[in-house]
This record gives sequence, structure tokens and C-alpha cells, in this order.
Amino acid sequence: MWWKEAVVYQIYPRSFQDSNGDGVGDIPGIIQRLDYLDQLGIDAIWLSPVYKSPNDDNGYDISDYQAINPEYGTMRDMEMLIEQAKKRNIKIVMDLVVNHTSDEHEWFIEAKKGQGNPYRDYYIWRDPVNGGEPNDLGSAFSGSAWAYDETSDQYYLHLFSRKQPDLNWENPKVRSNIYNMMNFWLEKGIGGLRMDVIDLIGKEPDRGITANGPNLHTYLQEMHKESFGKYDVMTVGETWSATPEIAKLYSGQDRDELSMIFQFEHMMLDQEEGNKWEQKPLDLVKLKRVLAKWQVELGDDGWNSLFWNNHDTPRIVSRWGNDRKYREESAKCFAVLLHLMKGTPYIYQGEEIGMTNNLINEIEEVDDIESRNMYKEGIQKGIKSDHLISSINRIGRDNARTPMQWNSKKFSGFTEGKPWLKLNPNYEEINIECVLNQPDSIFYTYQELIAYRKSHPIVVHGDFNLLLENHRTIFAYQRTYQGNKLIVIANLSEHQSDDVQLSESLGLTAVLFSNYARIKVDLKKISLAPYECIVVEG
Ligand code: NOJ
Repeated sequence: MWWKEAVVYQIYPRSFQDSNGDGVGDIPGIIQRLDYLDQLGIDAIWLSPVYKSPNDDNGYDISDYQAINPEYGTMRDMEMLIEQAKKRNIKIVMDLVVNHTSDEHEWFIEAKKGQGNPYRDYYIWRDPVNGGEPNDLGSAFSGSAWAYDETSDQYYLHLFSRKQPDLNWENPKVRSNIYNMMNFWLEKGIGGLRMDVIDLIGKEPDRGITANGPNLHTYLQEMHKESFGKYDVMTVGETWSATPEIAKLYSGQDRDELSMIFQFEHMMLDQEEGNKWEQKPLDLVKLKRVLAKWQVELGDDGWNSLFWNNHDTPRIVSRWGNDRKYREESAKCFAVLLHLMKGTPYIYQGEEIGMTNNLINEIEEVDDIESRNMYKEGIQKGIKSDHLISSINRIGRDNARTPMQWNSKKFSGFTEGKPWLKLNPNYEEINIECVLNQPDSIFYTYQELIAYRKSHPIVVHGDFNLLLENHRTIFAYQRTYQGNKLIVIANLSEHQSDDVQLSESLGLTAVLFSNYARIKVDLKKISLAPYECIVVEG
């Protein structure tokens, strides 16, 4: 199970590296940067979608699963990427978006032709109820999840944008077509699949059930049998609504479903119930409890992903760290805390150099469909523009999607043309060229953590114990494995923290890692500087 030991790096291709001056990142651009990723030490790349797509949701709306979006290159480029990555022992994990397609996919174009069409049942159609939507299911991107189709006087379901109609997984033809498509990619030698909102495929819309529907695990077992079960690949399911119990169903060793899940319980702690746009301050005690719960309750019966951010969330250093005075210190704290827990760590592009959120002033600067729809709906309801913009600045998805910051030249080495989305203006100070020249940079912390994981089974297999559970600003834990111990301590605040006691038995101990150049620490009594982080071996 190589994927338990692996570190995954997520690439959002649109924003990674442009090679042809059109302002959009592409596959040849990624190939050019493989040596950089190799230097970082990662084992796999989760590649956000590169398939043909009209880009209503930047590639998460696929119009042809077996073709590459020409903006990103050709199928030959894709094969080259797989081959070139392999040379560096890096596997390519493709994004599998099969809860829905684009409305420009040929299946939907056919299905829309009318009720007798052989593809009609590939999607979910319902008659109007009392002249309106079949029920009150909502789309994740605002408004109803049902779109009216005049030709047939029926509605189709779209849990995301109206250009992302949901596939009907109850139809065996849909399932077998998808498995064939998956096999097409597996045969090309990919290293795995990241499965977009996979928890939704067992939905029963008439009963208002979307996530964790009754047939979900039957479908996943069938998928395992018909496709990836025959290959040594990793599969990671995006499962917003999983609990540790549910996670064991997905990823239990004898379940023949997925390698691991990617769940968001910890990422929702700073928002009001069910509404990501209404934010509240993060309670660190709750964050620690949630993370510890997953560490302990999953035990050895399932496997979890570890992440602080991805292409759908803001940058961690801006969200829960400090992206000004303590940007470097706090970025290192989050790196250490995450990479020494149990699970497979994911690094989202730019996290390894401490890239920050990008603030905007008006809605015209926003690309993301989720934010734009939310803004439109908010304005219609009479909410003030300033309030909506400040929500977008805090939690909007474009924060993660600004182009990679490679150097301090114009457009930061991302493109020679005009970037599709404005660069974060801080690229002159925060960029890869800079961090590579600075021996104590955030980049080298990530590099060190990845290397440490490779040579220390305690990181992969050790038991986890939360320390100082009720401390409001210190996050500390201990890992133990075959008589070895690892203790991690981080002060997640901008204030000094005095008289912290971590152990009664362990006194003065050598420090394995410190973001303040500490060499020794007294575990009986520590004073921690703002965002100070220490790791010791016991
Ligand atoms: C989850 C993806 O991560 C997100 O970017 C996308 O908008 C939705 N699924 C719909 O595919």
C-alpha cells in the first residue's frame, strides 16, 4: 500500500504553468516543472481535471472524458506527462468527475432530445409538481437543483451548476460506460483516481437524499471490481459528509472500495451550520478534537487524507495562520502539524511557499461560479455588496486559484501572456525562486517533512495521542510506534505562551525540528514564541 507512505501534491492545471503564452496553465507547463516537484520529494500528483470541458466550473464539467481540453494540450502531452513523471517516481492521479457531466457532453445533448431518446435515462428527469420544481433540493451553487427543460416540459437534476447535470447512477449503462472510461485511463498507466463528490452517486432525489444514499457502497464495490481493483493504484474519494464510521465503509481493508477518503469535517469549523459564507472564528479546541477524533477512531480500519487546503478552499496561512508578520512561522506550524499526523498528506500548489489569499474589491474580479452565483443571489435578497465581497475574500475559491508564483518577473514566470486570473500582487516577495534560495524557507520545511516520513515508519503507522486537549492556543500531540515517540508542539497564536508543560518525565530534550532555530527544549516547562513549532523524538 504505497499510498499510505506517499505525499500527494495537487495541481490546478489552469494556474500552474503556462508554456505557450495564452495565459492558461497547460500540461507541457507541468512537465517543465516536474524537476521542481521531484526536488520537493512528492510521490504523486493529483491533477485537477484536464479533460475537454466548456469550463463552466473550470473543468469539473466534462464534455468528453477521453479527450484533453485543447487549452491544456493533447493526449500525447498527457501520455508524456505520465511517462516523464514516472521517470521521477511520481504517479499521476486523475480527477474522476462522474457524479455529473457537462451539459455539452454528447450523452446530455442526446438526452435533451426528448423522452424516447436512448440516453434520456443517463440523467435524472422529473415532471413538474404543481407547475414548479419537483422538490426543494438546492444546488451547491445557489438556487434550485432542478432546471426546467422546455422541450420536454420536465426538469433535470443538477446538484452543482445547471451546466452540470447529474448522471443517473441507477442506470447500469451509465455505470458500465464509466467503468470503461476509467479503464481507458488506467491502461495509460495513471497512478490513481481522485473521485469528485463520490458520496453523491447513490442519491435518491425523490426522498431528498443526496449524500450517502443506499446504493453508494454497492456502486463503489462494483466499480472496484470492474475497473481499478485490477491495478495497483490509489483511489481517494471526496466525501464531504463522512464520519469515521462511514469512512471505514469506504476504505476498510476488506471492503474492496477505495484506498482512502478526503473529508472536510475540520474545514467546516469556522462556518455557521450549513452556510459556508457565514464565517465565525475558529475554535482551536474544537479543531484539535475533530482531528484527534479522526486519528483515533479510524484506527487501522480505514485511511484518511490530511489537508489544510485545496482548490475549493482559501489558503491556510490566511485562513487560520497569520499571512503578514508571522506568515513563514505559521505556514511552517501548519506544515508540521499536518505532515506528522496519521494519513496521507496533500499539499496544494503554492502551499509549500506560503501563498496567501488574494483580496478583491468587486465582483467583476471573480471567476469562480460558486462565488458569482452566491453574490447574485445575495444581491437579489438585498444583502449589501460589501458583506458579500468580504465573504468571498475570506472563503471564496479564487483565493486558491491565482496563478503559481514562480519568480519576481512580470506575471511571476507563470505566463508570458495575460494570466486568465490575476496574480496575487505579493508575487514579488513570495515566489519559488526566493524560497529555493533561502535555506530556512517554508519550502525546505516541507521537503524535510516529506523526507522524514519516508525514513520513519512512526509517521505512517504510529498511534496518535492528543496532548493538552483543552489548551486554547497550543496544538500538541504525540505519536508512538514500537517504543519510539514523536512529540509535536505548536503555538497557533501571535502571543507568547508561557509555562507549557508537556511531560513530567521527559526533561531537557534535543529538538528535531524548530521554526525558531531552537536546539534544546525542556518539556517540563516551555515558553513558546508566536507561532513557534517544535518537534522532538522520545
Ligand atoms: C468538488 C470539486 O472539488 C469542485 O471544485 C467542484 O466544483 C464540485 N465538486 C463539482 O464538481
